Amino acid sequence: MNATMGKPFAVVTGASSGIGLELAKQFAKHGFDVLVTAEDNELDAAADEVREFGTRVETVLADLRTEEGVEKLADEVAGTGRPVAAIALNAGVGAGGAFVGGSSLEDQLAVVDLNVRSSVHLAYRLLPPMTERGAGRVLFTSSVAATAPGPFQAVYNASKAFLKSFAEALREELRDTGVSVTTLMPGPTDTEFFDRADMLDTKLGAADKDSPAVVAKQGYDALMAGEDHVVAGSPKNKVQAAAGNVLPDPAVARQHRQMTEPGTAESE
Ligand SMILES: NC(=O)c1ccc[n+]([C@@H]2O[C@H](COP(=O)([O-])OP(=O)(O)OC[C@H]3O[C@@H](n4cnc5c(N)ncnc54)[C@H](OP(=O)(O)O)[C@@H]3O)[C@@H](O)[C@H]2O)c1
Repeated sequence: MNATMGKPFAVVTGASSGIGLELAKQFAKHGFDVLVTAEDNELDAAADEVREFGTRVETVLADLRTEEGVEKLADEVAGTGRPVAAIALNAGVGAGGAFVGGSSLEDQLAVVDLNVRSSVHLAYRLLPPMTERGAGRVLFTSSVAATAPGPFQAVYNASKAFLKSFAEALREELRDTGVSVTTLMPGPTDTEFFDRADMLDTKLGAADKDSPAVVAKQGYDALMAGEDHVVAGSPKNKVQAAAGNVLPDPAVARQHRQMTEPGTAESE
């Protein structure tokens, strides 16, 4: 117990695979003990991978789409009795397909519940001890998708735009508290995301993707440097983000459609 008390402590959500697992490894590699969380038992194998860096790793299984799941995680974090040096609010899902007639309401609301609601709820529960201590770092995983209206993943892109705005606002609010807030904006990344979002038949789903390890390293570095945001992955993601910020929304939405409409993978 004492051996671990001097080490910084990080919490990573969505840490069983993809970007979250790689973020957890970044924390471990840099000497953090880590609490990793996800909703299914794949988490145990992921935690073992993180332990290989010689750090202490705790697991919490929680479905963050639910209020009970979020409260359970917040209680478990508080129950460690350890000051949280860094939090990566990273868990997220997509839901591809037409909003009207091509997807279930349940899937679309799951995107809101996990990506938006759980992030707000967790930030509300986990940030006050940080501001009281006057120290802490918070990473929100948004996306390059935050810069574009996303036909055929409309709710997802909106959820990521919400996170970007929320994170930047919190960053300013907390400017003099010693707590810094950073937004990670990956482009298409090689994880389970597109399969889970039922988007493998889209041009975006079939396209080349960045390595989650590279994306996580850029996110970790930006977090530690106290940057407001980082567009991670290949340089074309930076171009896409810049275009999304200056071009008119209807033009960006039209372009996006060509990448995300079901069946576009075959038109290559
Ligand atoms: N891949 C991309 O191209 C890309 C691009 C930009 C941003 N992002 C964002 O990056 C983040 C991580 O996604 P990823 O690409 O690494 O995908 P991923 O491999 O599918 O990882 C998603 C993680 O979220 C967890 N999760 C899903 N539903 C959950 C729930 N109900 N409760 C708790 N945890 C849940 C998953 O755990 P379980 O397996 O236990 O459900 C998993 O650990 C997401 O916020 C995503 O929007 C991804």
